[in-house]
Amino acid sequence: MVQKKKFYVTTPIYYATAAPHLGTLYSTVLADVLARWHRIQNIPTFFLTGTDEHGQKVAQAAQAAGKDPKSFVDQFIDPYKALWKKYSIDYSHFIRTTDTAHVAAVQSWITDLKNKGDIYKGTYEGWYCTPCETYITEKDFEAGQSNPPCLSCERPTSWVAEECYYFKLSAYQDKLLAFYKENPDFITPKERLAEVLSFVESGLQDLSISRTTITWGVPFPGDSRHVAYVWADALNNYITGVGYAQKGHEQEFAQWWPADMQVMGKDIVRFHAIYWPAFLMASGLALPKKLLVHGWIKVGDYKMSKSRGNSIDPDELFKAYGADAVRYYLTRQLAITQDGQFSRDDLEQKISSDLANDLGNLLQRMTMLADKLALTELSVDAWSDEERALFGQTQVMIENYTREMERGYYHLALGQVWKLLHQANAHFHASAPWKLAATDKAAASCVLTATCHVLAAAGTLLWPFMPTKMDELCERIGYKLDTSLDCVALLKQPWSGSFTIRKGDPLFIKPELNVAAQEQPVVIEKQEESFITIEDFAKVDMRAGTITACQTVDGSDKLLRLTVDLGECGIRNIFSGIRAFYVPEDLIGKQGIFVVNLKPRKMMGALSEGMMLTAEKEDGTITMLVPQVDAKNGGRVK
Ligand code: MSP
Repeated sequence: MVQKKKFYVTTPIYYATAAPHLGTLYSTVLADVLARWHRIQNIPTFFLTGTDEHGQKVAQAAQAAGKDPKSFVDQFIDPYKALWKKYSIDYSHFIRTTDTAHVAAVQSWITDLKNKGDIYKGTYEGWYCTPCETYITEKDFEAGQSNPPCLSCERPTSWVAEECYYFKLSAYQDKLLAFYKENPDFITPKERLAEVLSFVESGLQDLSISRTTITWGVPFPGDSRHVAYVWADALNNYITGVGYAQKGHEQEFAQWWPADMQVMGKDIVRFHAIYWPAFLMASGLALPKKLLVHGWIKVGDYKMSKSRGNSIDPDELFKAYGADAVRYYLTRQLAITQDGQFSRDDLEQKISSDLANDLGNLLQRMTMLADKLALTELSVDAWSDEERALFGQTQVMIENYTREMERGYYHLALGQVWKLLHQANAHFHASAPWKLAATDKAAASCVLTATCHVLAAAGTLLWPFMPTKMDELCERIGYKLDTSLDCVALLKQPWSGSFTIRKGDPLFIKPELNVAAQEQPVVIEKQEESFITIEDFAKVDMRAGTITACQTVDGSDKLLRLTVDLGECGIRNIFSGIRAFYVPEDLIGKQGIFVVNLKPRKMMGALSEGMMLTAEKEDGTITMLVPQVDAKNGGRVK
């Protein structure tokens, strides 16, 4: 029987400990682009996203907020769904790991594997990272090292010993290696497979998949003291979300599983490329066809994250620039193969040059001229050589675009569309239809119609990235994007058919690039009273000091708590809002400059007895001020 073509795409499920940020939006936009890319080819598509709601991290965050875990996680669901709606994320199902159907299906998965002998009871001891809910293995730290840092977040781990259930991961080492060998394209980009291979080749240990130390999780069937460890619970969402182990959903599961593409950030590739296939092998299920692994959005040297306090609010960007411009920026500016920086200046630049100029202006010039020449119903039978060439360039673009989309290189696929837009702009400019119309209206009409064909191709292929704006673009030229047809195949037909042109507002507005501010230097004429005297300055007592200890502060994603040796001024406790830019270990032993005569202030339940001086860097991040050579602790700064 020929299997009917379908496409099942997933995002990671996001920790329900805070509202979404730009990093989580990024994973979700990529999955949405993929889903839409298949929908415009009329391929039945299922897109799963959702939230990861169990585990110690969630329980701790709930406790800090004074809520029970379920009402704590509940509060984030609407913000997630509302943001996804604003960003046109057209998911088929939003799964929550607290859904009854998911919990029951995970329990049935555990029972099945216990019966098969792939899950057994034992004891676990090891270094554990609470925030990432993961143990680090011996090969990841130096022998004898105490509290070695977590591989993902680099925070210190703590020693844990507990009774737990194990998944027999070691039994799957050879099968996994054989699978990678047979499926060298399992991971995009390919280079990431190397990391996975070397991890598996260096030997897999059985995986602890239950906890007795926490209660907020899926109760382990047959042993109520245990709950399922978060990855055994969370990874299974990809099958429970399409009906696994749910009566009456057998057909749904058979239709969608295996996933065709699973999108994730590079931090969780190991869980998806090793544990997840092994879990599936153990339960006799097919493996996902591909993993798409993207890099991180960084701020300075650090991954953008809520816990570091350096995250960017996608809602704010939506209000300032609109969803489609942000979606475009995320997919064009950031290559999935690499980490990338987010910059508002770059975003504004891209909106101006790519969206407003290259794309929006082409549509605007064409529609305005068509209206002026009363050529609003356009169709052409005979093309000039130049237009035949443009048709050829369009076909090349479609082919290259398709190849890049299939490879997962979205920034390059977009680059192909822009190459064609440049060619179409050049053709429009060189043919000068506004002049041509005076002598040869039919030729002017040809230029306008060819431009419409290019815009129809661009509108179709950019629709996965910018659905709202591309619907608007297609509407302006009277082109119907009908997802009940293969819209991409239609673009490969010889150019025929007609367009009905409508004038309208520009598709994209150029953001103010602060030109006004740059062109008119601000002359600050300081009023006499705004100066301070040397006596005023002398009132601020600043001293050099050495940071002897440093900790994160529970409940604050901004603050670090420093213990500072200030010589004659004593040992002080000083809070500093630099958590987004430093990890505690970076600071211990460093000298800084501190204001020591600020009125002590209570912060997060403790007294802050001073202030550390910092300065802003070019990229907007913060650096502490450090004496050039060792200064005396308590030495006065003048
Ligand atoms: N709950 C787990 C995933 C379980 S999947 C079975 C998790 N959640 S998360 O909320 O921390 O992150 C989810 C996704 O968001 C990951 O793919 C992660 O890489 C992505 N991002 C979070 N911050 C990011 C950036 N700063 N940049 C790009 N993506 C990042 O992990």
